[in-house]
Amino acid sequence: MKPLWPLCLALAAAPVLAAPQDAQMTRLAQDSGCALCHAARPEPRGVDSLLPSAPAWSDIAARYRGQKGVADKLVAEVINGIGPENRHWEYKTDLALMPENRVTISKKDATALIRWILRQDAPAPR
Ligand code: HEC
Repeated sequence: MKPLWPLCLALAAAPVLAAPQDAQMTRLAQDSGCALCHAARPEPRGVDSLLPSAPAWSDIAARYRGQKGVADKLVAEVINGIGPENRHWEYKTDLALMPENRVTISKKDATALIRWILRQDAPAPR
């Protein structure tokens, strides 16, 4: 029988390894200006609520996770921005466009951030 300890070690380390990445990616989103418009989770909504400025990371993950080639598409949109002609969240966000972010984030960092965003858990249904 193969020794089980490498597996046990990997399972024990998984949450510990995920936490620093969460902190690192949250920091990257803040430093790159993304957090000015995007939140990690949608705010609880009431009848008088305004629309959120931009889709929350967990909403983006819920919509696109598992779609083929979607990370590349999202990275390109982050770098180049989204205009009125290629919106995806009409009536769901207050802001109608995303400015290009090529000045604030590199393609490499945007790729790491998008991969992390796509792994965000969707909030539990209310
Ligand atoms: C000035 C506000 C603003 C900033 C800053 C901003 N975004 Fe956005 N972002 C938006 C809005 C608004 C949308 C929704 C546009 C639409 O309807 O498609 C959006 C959409 C997105 C989407 C989803 C695109 C799609 O195809 O559905 C991703 C991913 C994203 N932003 C990531 C980022 C990242 C990463 C950064 C930081 C580098 C960033 N955004 C900075 C406003 C912003």
